[in-house]
Amino acid sequence: MFSEINSVGLFGLNAFAVTAEASVSPGQPTFDIVGMPDIAVQESKARIRAALSHMELGSLLGGRVTVNLAPASVKKIGSMFDLPITVALMKLGRVIERDLSDDVFIGEISLNGSLSPINGALSMVLNAAAQGKKRIFLPKENSREASVADGIEVYGVEHLKQLIEFLTRGTGLTPEKPYIPEEQQLRHAADFAEVMGQQSAKAAIETAAAGSHNILMLGPPGSGKSMLAKRIPSILPKITFQESIETTQIHSIAGLIDPNEPLVTHRPFRAVSHTASAVGLVGGGSIPRPGEISLAHNGVLFLDELPEFDRKVLETLRQPLENGEINISRASGSACYPCDVMLVAAMNPCPCGNFGNPVKKCTCSQTAVANYLGKISQPVLDRIDIQIEVKPVEYDDLSRRSPQESSAAIAERIQKARDIQAKRFAGTGIKSNSGITSDIISEVCPLTDEAEQMIRRAFDKLGLSARAYDRILKVSRTCADLAGSERIEKEHIAQAISYRSLDRKYWNR
Ligand SMILES: Nc1ncnc2c1ncn2[C@@H]1O[C@H](COP(=O)(O)OP(=O)(O)OP(=O)(O)O)[C@@H](O)[C@H]1O
Ligand SMILES: [Mg+2]
Ligand SMILES: [Zn+2]
Repeated sequence: MFSEINSVGLFGLNAFAVTAEASVSPGQPTFDIVGMPDIAVQESKARIRAALSHMELGSLLGGRVTVNLAPASVKKIGSMFDLPITVALMKLGRVIERDLSDDVFIGEISLNGSLSPINGALSMVLNAAAQGKKRIFLPKENSREASVADGIEVYGVEHLKQLIEFLTRGTGLTPEKPYIPEEQQLRHAADFAEVMGQQSAKAAIETAAAGSHNILMLGPPGSGKSMLAKRIPSILPKITFQESIETTQIHSIAGLIDPNEPLVTHRPFRAVSHTASAVGLVGGGSIPRPGEISLAHNGVLFLDELPEFDRKVLETLRQPLENGEINISRASGSACYPCDVMLVAAMNPCPCGNFGNPVKKCTCSQTAVANYLGKISQPVLDRIDIQIEVKPVEYDDLSRRSPQESSAAIAERIQKARDIQAKRFAGTGIKSNSGITSDIISEVCPLTDEAEQMIRRAFDKLGLSARAYDRILKVSRTCADLAGSERIEKEHIAQAISYRSLDRKYWNR
């Protein structure tokens, strides 16, 4: 006798169809699971045995039972196969008789037969829907997240008993209503209105957020770098539905989803401690997990006190920052996580913090300064489009306490600039100006004659590299978008060039 049940497996973000095939033959009772199961799948046996005997269905394991998770060539990881295996056994034992060929099952089972939530549900449901399956049964706690997927009925199940009742008599379960997140105005605790003065730093941050450009802020202690960075979430453009689904999938795999509000509806802002490991930052592990840079996908990765990070850890960011995705290869397979982020970094110029400060004297030796700055390598610097000096706030600005522009007003301009970009890049897969590729750069960055002359002069005088040239063009594109200008004007080029002066002043490059 033989039965087969549809399920879905997951490796990284990559979901794939799995069939749980069960067969039984007479003889001394045995229970084997084959088809490249990992340890969690092997432990299924104990959970399933306990759950079935708890429900007085222990007789389903009364013969020589073999379960194959097909395709046998792919490694199966996780506890989501408990449910399809159990349903295959129930089908085999005629506890359930109806045709289940359009149905998909995923979920972990606890010893008493109730279902426990699993990570990565959304990716698996999207796969089941893409396969054209009609229904998916999964743990109740995952059902709201799963209901975001189009074209498939989602049934949240609390206990195996419910499932048996539904699959035999058609009662007891109803499909989950598609979850639509409430349009909620995120209340930000911190607002740019609280930052006095600092007009040029604010303008640079506005440009960075508008085009999703990486930004580095360098300045003495207390100049407000952390204060400025913490306010960036309050001005980010709205996340699109597609971006929201992508980011939710990654958060789901990491087990960071709130079952009641399962969709990531705002761009993430991940502040990472300088004690972070390479795995914590870019992902990894024997079962590859997403790192902070992927959890920040479509949002901001904030690295405060940049030189305090381990240099090796910082270097691991190079490839992901360049490609917008990270590949993690393991013996068990390779996983790819997207990481399209806006990097925000802050640092002091030296250990005492006063190097380059016209007022306070730096007490560090030349070597100490060089070593400190040297922790940030040229390739990492090269990937940061906007680099600015944050000077301590002027006394007059601070004392006047005059009203400053609110985050809402800044956010409005940023959204407009992002809408222009969305139109420009429709259908190309590019999300913002920071993603402009070299094949289209001259087409999407038309310069006025004056602007052209200015960048030519800068190129000769400052000895810019081809890479720096491209980056200046992209940033100036964003400056022009913020100004509502179709062509890039001289002042936009000037602004973009001013964002690249740090490496000459501090790094002598
Ligand atoms: N422009 C400003 N307007 C109002 N308050 C400010 C401003 N700049 C700094 N402050 C005050 O100074 C405090 C210190 O700023 P912050 O911690 O952001 O500095 P920092 O540049 O990150 O310093 P460090 O290099 O030591 O980390 C802020 O919490 C805030 O109270
Ligand atoms: Mg700080
Ligand atoms: Zn110093």
